[in-house]
Parts: sequence; structure tokens; C-alpha cells
Amino acid sequence: MNTRGSMVLVSVLAIWFMVVAAVSAANFNQDVSITWGGGRANIQDSGNLLTLSLDQTSGSGFQTVNQYMFGKFDIQMKLVPGNSAGTVTTYYLSSAGSSHDEIDLEFLGNLSGDPYVLHTNVFTQGKGNREQQFYLWFDPTKDFHTYSILWNPVTIVISVDGTPIRQFKNMASSGVPFPNGQPMWIYSSLWDADSWATRGGLVKTDWSLAPFTASYRNYNAQACIWSSSSSSSSCTTKSTSNSSWMSQSLDNTAQARIKSFQKKYMIYNYCTDTKRFPQGFPPECLAT
Ligand SMILES: *[C@@H]1O[C@H](CO)[C@@H](O)[C@H](O)[C@H]1NC(C)=O
Ligand SMILES: *[C@@H]1O[C@H](CO)[C@@H](O)[C@H](O)[C@H]1NC(C)=O
Repeated sequence: MNTRGSMVLVSVLAIWFMVVAAVSAANFNQDVSITWGGGRANIQDSGNLLTLSLDQTSGSGFQTVNQYMFGKFDIQMKLVPGNSAGTVTTYYLSSAGSSHDEIDLEFLGNLSGDPYVLHTNVFTQGKGNREQQFYLWFDPTKDFHTYSILWNPVTIVISVDGTPIRQFKNMASSGVPFPNGQPMWIYSSLWDADSWATRGGLVKTDWSLAPFTASYRNYNAQACIWSSSSSSSSCTTKSTSNSSWMSQSLDNTAQARIKSFQKKYMIYNYCTDTKRFPQGFPPECLAT
């Protein structure tokens, strides 16, 4: 085949892939299982919408059917409206076992009109303690917004509506363990944590307002699906060879966007908490 011919083929494959990827996006009936909370978790609208609810007896949650070894995971969420104090809505990747890896987004509720906090953490080989917390620049209860976790061999990036807000780079060469040896599932849950969630536990859940409900739609994983029987993974984008998410890292513009976001909206950063690390900050804090 001449160069022109292969260019055409590459374009056709690219278009084919985009179509397949679009069609394969999100059906909660196929992609997730309800793991707890009984009837408090509901899949509706032919698999396009999932709701979790919380009452005084129990919260609820789901996890993906597939385990993944790297991917870009997007979901749209609309959080508990009104007085959501004491409630926590989560979206996270986690492996199994005692020295597990985990990439966390936890949305801490608040009194009506007071801001939600997005609490994030990264665990590697069972060790977390890498908390960063942010306010959002919008009310996350009014509409659906897209929350994304990019996890590839180079980096982890958490984004909100396409704006990167946190990065955890692979610094294995500096002795910081990076999650790249254990497949993970996506999990999500809505639960009560009024002992610590809102203003450090000062504001309790108002159970007269229960049930509390959060909604999910448009789950999309461009990812490598792990097969435990063959101990290997197959990636959605292999056919086009260079899957952009697999090698993506933040360019200078994106780094600048993270910085300016964090300057305005970050409210806690373990990397600046001198009380906590009197002997010096963890090594990943020294890189920017
Ligand atoms: C709740 O609102 C208070 C007052 O604005 C704020 O200090 C706090 O960070 C907010 N979020 C949480 C989860 O406590
Ligand atoms: C794949 O990525 C490499 C390195 O980034 C680049 O040199 C090459 O042109 C890419 N190939 C395609 C088909 O995009």
C-alpha cells in the first residue's frame, strides 16, 4: 500500500474507532453492578441513569463489572441537593487487597448554600496520606458535571469538566511507588460520614430530609480491560496503535491551568502541611 493509501486507512480506522467508542459508552445495566444498599440504588432510563440514595439505615453503591489496567474514566454526576451536610458521594478507582492502590474523589456535602468540598487522595501499595481538597467553581447539585480520572503509565490526572485539577506523576525513579501493578475497579457510593465530613464533623446529617439522592450518567471508559484468567489486558484503542489517553501527560498549558485552578480553589494540600511533615515533605511534593 502506498503512503496515501495507508493515510486513508488510518483515517478510516480512526473514524471507525470513534464511532465504536461512542456507541460503547455507558450502559449501567451492562457496565456496573449494584454492590450494596438494596433498593436504594436504581438503574433507570434503559441503563442511562443511575441513582444512589442514603437514609438513616443505609447508603448504597456500585462498582464496575470490569477491572482495568489503565484508562480514562469519565462520569457525569449530579450531587445531593439542598442540605447535604454529613453525606459523602464518592467516585474512585481501587484495587483489592491490603497493599491496594486507590485514586479517590469524595464529595463532602454541606448546608444549603454552603460549598461542597472535593476531597482527593492517591494510595499506592496501601499507603495514602496524600490528601488535597478543593472547592468547585459551580454548584455541583444544579446540573450534571463530568468528573474524570486519567490513569496511564506516565501519570494520574483528575479533571472536572475537562479542567485538570490534580496530577500525580509517575515518580517511581525517585522512589515514590506508582499504581501500575494492580488492576482496579471503578467504585461509587453515597454514605453518611457526619462524624467528619462537614466542617470537620461539626455539622451533622439532618435525617428529616432523607432520603438523599445523587445521580449518575454517561459513564465512559477508554481503558484496558483486565482479564484475571489470562493476567493480561485488552485496550479499547489498540487498533489505532497510539491511544492518546495511554501516553497523555500534561503539557505546559495544562500545567498552568492546574496551577491557576489550585491557586483559587485549593483549600488543603498535604504538600504544604508543615505540621504534619516536620521532617520534610514526601518526595512527590518536591516536583511540580
Ligand atoms: C461547608 O461550608 C463551610 C462554610 O462556608 C466551609 O467552611 C466548609 O469548607 C464547607 N464544606 C465542608 C465539607 O465542610
Ligand atoms: C505514535 O506516537 C509516537 C510517539 O509519540 C509518534 O512518533 C508517532 O508518529 C505516533 N503514530 C501515530 C500513528 O500516531
